[in-house]
Amino acid sequence: MRETNFIIENNARHLWHPMAHPAEMQANPPRIINSGEGVEIVDIQGRKVLDAVGGLWNVNLGYSCEPVKKAIRDQLDELPYYSTFRGTTNSPLIELSYELAEWFKPDGLSRSFFTSGGSDSVETCLRLARQFHKVNGQPERTKFVALKKGYHGTHFGGASVNGNQNFRRNYEPLLPGVFHLPAPFPYRNPFNTTDGAEIAAAIGRLFEEEIAFQGADTIAALIVEPVLGAGGVIVPHETFLPLMREICDRHGILLIADEVITAFGRTGAWTGSRLWGVKPDMMSTAKAITNGYFPFGAVMISDKVAEAFESNKNSFGNIGHGYTYSGHPVGAAAALATLKETKRLDVAANAAARGEELLAGLKRLEEKHELVGDIRGKGLMCALELVSDRAKKSAAAKDTVQKVHDATYDAGVMVRTSGANVILSPPLIVTATNVQTILTALDAGLTAAKG
Ligand SMILES: Cc1ncc(COP(=O)(O)O)c(C=O)c1O
Repeated sequence: MRETNFIIENNARHLWHPMAHPAEMQANPPRIINSGEGVEIVDIQGRKVLDAVGGLWNVNLGYSCEPVKKAIRDQLDELPYYSTFRGTTNSPLIELSYELAEWFKPDGLSRSFFTSGGSDSVETCLRLARQFHKVNGQPERTKFVALKKGYHGTHFGGASVNGNQNFRRNYEPLLPGVFHLPAPFPYRNPFNTTDGAEIAAAIGRLFEEEIAFQGADTIAALIVEPVLGAGGVIVPHETFLPLMREICDRHGILLIADEVITAFGRTGAWTGSRLWGVKPDMMSTAKAITNGYFPFGAVMISDKVAEAFESNKNSFGNIGHGYTYSGHPVGAAAALATLKETKRLDVAANAAARGEELLAGLKRLEEKHELVGDIRGKGLMCALELVSDRAKKSAAAKDTVQKVHDATYDAGVMVRTSGANVILSPPLIVTATNVQTILTALDAGLTAAKG
């Protein structure tokens, strides 16, 4: 490795960062994170801060999870790569598919299809949804319905069902035949109410109307995050997902739960679908499946979808989709070790308990700071929405949000900002003391931004 000065001088000079403007990155190079331990990360200046971002919603077990590291090392020695395209497979992957079928049994999901990450998993769900209907003799079911403010990764299919224009405008035209419903968002919605149940019912009516307008027999699937993450941690009312499930069932539309963030305990339940008592037809997972240590994902498939493909006797059932790294043996070994640790540490229970403490603390910050327009959360996914005017709900200025971020960092905690939202997704192993550290640092950040 070259010396520190070389690294700092070349920061953002020869690479473009995802989700950033290249010129802005060159003007204000990103922080260089050099190491991690427990729930903390250390930057190149040697500053140690608590990582309230949890990597990127994925390092659920923190940075020192030795069983996962060891599994990766051992698998690299044993078999560092082999393809799983028709004709070959590998042992850790077979074991993982068994473990995942057990893990997701309560969600009614029994088959897995492996990918290299969340966007791949979403793409796989969308493609398999269309194919499912072809297998079933309904080839006209090709359209997708999604939620505004939803985030489903950045492949063209995923970007098309995305509900945030930041990820759409520069890449249009996107996939035709995608329709969006309003988000189940009490703080901002077109229904003139803050009542979650009313909002859920109103979205249900719009969904029915859209189905009638498009023709149910043209719609392949509805895709939703059980708790909307990147769109600002939007927690739907408990009636929302069951209602969507019921409408989908009535019209033969598949329900895809995008659980790239929520699948392994983040909401306080083991899956977001289970949180709301709903069984999806397919589920996209990634991120925490390997604790973020290896790029990997799994699409989980329900018995209904599996049965259609597995009993198919013509070429419609043949899966013409997959990635070089689908079922990577090192990823599979990492996932096996991660699942074992995730279960052993019962991180879902900790996420539920620490999440309540975090949300209660955020409520106090909302009462104290005018800058906070709204706070939301479920388990260890929380957000503060910053506003310049509470009555008008106008978004806080970009430099104010940056000030909150920087001052919170200076006070010892890394948070993530997205637009005017401050998003918190710490590792699921945080302690009650860690939660208080996050709140104290945020308090300092909000105070500093006041000027
Ligand atoms: C719900 C959801 N779906 C899909 C993705 C895309 O995953 P990836 O960035 O691994 O491609 C994300 C990433 O944050 C996500 O939150």
